[in-house]
Amino acid sequence: MIESSSPAKAILFGEHAVLYGKPAIAVSLDRRMTIRVVRSERYSVDRRPLSIRRNRYVKWALENLYDGPPLAVTTSSSIPSASGLGSSAALSCSVAAAIGQIGGGISNESCASDAFDIEYNVQGRASPTDTSASTHGGGILVSFKEEDERLWSLSKGDRTWHVHNLPIPPMTLVVGFTRKPSVTPIQVEKVANFYNKSRFARETIEEIGDLVWDAVKALKGRDLVRVGELMDRNNSLLTILGVNSRELQKLKDAAAPHSYGAKLTGAGGGGSMIALTDRPEEVAGSIERRGGVPFIVSISEKGVSASGRIDHDGH
Ligand code: MEV
Repeated sequence: MIESSSPAKAILFGEHAVLYGKPAIAVSLDRRMTIRVVRSERYSVDRRPLSIRRNRYVKWALENLYDGPPLAVTTSSSIPSASGLGSSAALSCSVAAAIGQIGGGISNESCASDAFDIEYNVQGRASPTDTSASTHGGGILVSFKEEDERLWSLSKGDRTWHVHNLPIPPMTLVVGFTRKPSVTPIQVEKVANFYNKSRFARETIEEIGDLVWDAVKALKGRDLVRVGELMDRNNSLLTILGVNSRELQKLKDAAAPHSYGAKLTGAGGGGSMIALTDRPEEVAGSIERRGGVPFIVSISEKGVSASGRIDHDGH
């Protein structure tokens, strides 16, 4: 049997703008997607036949990255799906790592590349932010120019993203899940339509790009007050882009009195917000009272992992 596991992620800064040549910062969280893979008579996921409707990510990966006898995949996850916390990226990484492990193991760079291929092909337009965060663990900076601590570079079409290690100071985040799904392709298309039509949208994306570089400085300087201010500002700019929602804003407002700052995270429209705080219990209580599901999380330094092997007799 092969077992592989990858962490959830939260985008601290720069979601959406990272699809338009701007940088983004993401961290991985201490919630994980684990999969187990064994040889089998026929392909299955969680004991049901592999299905294009239920298992788009696993199916694309098996059809395009794997060549061998049928496999049975079982999943177990502590990442709520469609929550903006990267459950599909963590699944893509875990599947890529498991397939790599069948062939004797792969590097993190290959895993990040394969996982990005899975997300990109299933989801349409996507950046490698989520899958690279889930692969690497800790913090990453994704940018269009090479910086110190480059991990890998990934290209699609005429676009190349450089992914860097970004040390993150000790911090506690509280996630507030709205209980409403965040459907990434819908939000990405919404922003793309606005971007193509409006100079104001393009200027807003520019401003997010500048803000992310300020956030890199603030994180390197361990200035959590400034990080919080920038989170609030990033949230306002995402609101202008149209990806905030009443539920997200309600949870952000609930967190505000006890936080350095807070913002929606990921594609938005639903899903989750994150608050940076040193009073996590108070923030979690406020989020819960306003109808959200709070998770107190910390940053996980552990990225993707894979172990085990599949013998010829199928075990
Ligand atoms: C989704 O978690 C983040 C987006 O920027 C899309 C992407 O980068 O692939 C909205």
